[in-house]
Amino acid sequence: MKAVINTRNKKGKISRHIYGHFSEHLGRCIYGGYWVGEDSPIPNVNGIRTDIVEAMKAIKVPNIRWPGGCFADDYNWMDGIGPKETRPPIVNTHWGGVLENNHFGTHEFMDLCEQVGCEPYICGNVGSGTVREMRNWVEYLTDDGNSPMAQLRRKNGRDRAWNIQFFGIGNENWGCGGYMKAEYYANEFRRYATYVRNYREMGKTNWWEVPPLIKIAGGANVEDLQWTETLMREAGRFMGGLSVHCYISPGEESHGTVFSKKSWYQTAVNTLKKESLLKQNMSIMDYYDPEKRVLLAVDEWGIWVDNEPGTNPGFLYQQNTMRSAMSAALMLHIFQKYPERIRLCNLAQTINVLQAIILTEGARMVKTPTYHVFDLFKNHQDSYYIPAEWDEKPETIQMGLPNADISASCRDNGNIFVTIVNLSADNKAEIVLNFAGKKAKSAKGGFISGEVTAHNTFDNPDTVHVRELSDIRIVDGEVLLGLLPCEIAAVEVEFE
Ligand code: AHR
Repeated sequence: MKAVINTRNKKGKISRHIYGHFSEHLGRCIYGGYWVGEDSPIPNVNGIRTDIVEAMKAIKVPNIRWPGGCFADDYNWMDGIGPKETRPPIVNTHWGGVLENNHFGTHEFMDLCEQVGCEPYICGNVGSGTVREMRNWVEYLTDDGNSPMAQLRRKNGRDRAWNIQFFGIGNENWGCGGYMKAEYYANEFRRYATYVRNYREMGKTNWWEVPPLIKIAGGANVEDLQWTETLMREAGRFMGGLSVHCYISPGEESHGTVFSKKSWYQTAVNTLKKESLLKQNMSIMDYYDPEKRVLLAVDEWGIWVDNEPGTNPGFLYQQNTMRSAMSAALMLHIFQKYPERIRLCNLAQTINVLQAIILTEGARMVKTPTYHVFDLFKNHQDSYYIPAEWDEKPETIQMGLPNADISASCRDNGNIFVTIVNLSADNKAEIVLNFAGKKAKSAKGGFISGEVTAHNTFDNPDTVHVRELSDIRIVDGEVLLGLLPCEIAAVEVEFE
C-alpha cells in the first residue's frame, strides 16, 4: 500500500485541544485516582498524585474537562471551596450513591491543571443550579479585581485569578442534565451564557488581546441531529462552541478483555461510522456558521465496554485492550481531518473510568494501551493536517474495512509526522510513504502491537508498551514500513 503525502496540500492546524481528557467525580477517577490527600504515603503534591501528573505531562495533555458529565448538573461549586473540614459532604446521586466529601474542588482542580501544565475546561450546572451560582463561579475564577467572589477566592488562599479558556454551560441537558427539550435548553443556554463573563477582559483597553472565554453549549448525542439543528438555529450566535458526545460500542462482544477477533473488526467498523455522524453535525453547523467561528467540541468520546466483573456498577471501571487503542487511534484520525471545526475533544475518562488512560490500585499505577496511543500521537498536536492519499489502495479486509488507516501532519520544523493503524488482526501490512517529490532523509518512530485482547495489569504493566520501530527503511526517498497485525505506529520523517 502506498500513501502519498504532499506538503503542498497542507490544511488547517490540528488544535492540540483535540487531545484533551475528561475527569468526572465518578467512581475512582478523582478519589483514589488523582486525589490521595496531603497526608497520603503515596507521593503527592498538595494531595495530587505525582506519578499521575508525570504520566499526563509526558503525553502533553492539553486540557481537562471537569467536574462532569452528569455530576456537573448536580454540583454546587460553593460546596468545594474553603477549609476542607467545613465543606459539606453530599451524595453522588448519579454514580453509585457514594458520599462525596468535596475535598477536591475548584482550587484542587486548578492546581491539578497547573501541575500538568494544561488548560481547565469547566462545566457549569444548568440542570439544578442557578444563573447566579454560575455567574459567581466565573467571577470567582476570573476576576482579578475586588468583586465579592474575588475577595472570597483570596480568603481561600488564591490571590491571582485563573485564566479560563473553555466553559461549558451544562451537560447532556437532553438527558441527565434536566431532560430538557432542545428549544427550552436553547433559551436556557442564552440566559446562562449572558452572565458567564470573562472578568479578565473587563475594563481593559486592549480587551481584544485577552484570550477569549469560549462558552460551550451542551450538545447532543452525536446521532441527535435535531438537537444540533435547534441549538445552532436558536443560540448559535451566542456560543463559542457546541458539544457532541460520541461513545463507541464494541458490538455483541462487550467484555473488556475476553472477545474474539470479530469484535476487533466490529469495533473498527463502529468507530469509523462515527465520521459520517460527525460530518452531519458539522454540515448543520456550516449552514448556520459558515465562517466556522463556533467550534465543535467532542467533549466526551471513547469506547464503552462492560465494567470489570465484581466492581461497583456505578463506578464504570473498565479494562482497556489493543481493541480500545485501535478505536482511539481511528477516532483521533477522524478528528484531525476537520481542523477548522473540531477544535476540542475529551476522552472519557482519564483514570479508572470507561476508556481510561491510567488505572490505579493503591500505590500502583498502570498505563493502558490507550495511554500509549496518546503518547505515540502527541506530535500531531498543533501541526498542520495533510490529507494522505492512497496511491495503491489498501485492500479490503474483514467487514469491508480497509487494511490500514493513516493520518499525516506537517510540524513547525518541516518534518512530516505520520500515524498508521494496521486494521488487520491477522496479517502484516507493508506500507510505503511517498512525499510527492520530497526525499526522506531519515525516519524514526515507535509502535504498539499485540493480540486484540492484549492489555496491561498491575502484575504485568508493560504487556503493551511503546517500542522503537525497527522494520523501517528509506528507498529512493520513500519510507518503507512493515506493520505487525494490530500494530499502531507513529513515524517522524526528516527531509533532504
Ligand atoms: O462519562 C460518563 C457519563 O456519560 C457522563 O457523566 C455523561 O455525560 C455521559 O452520559
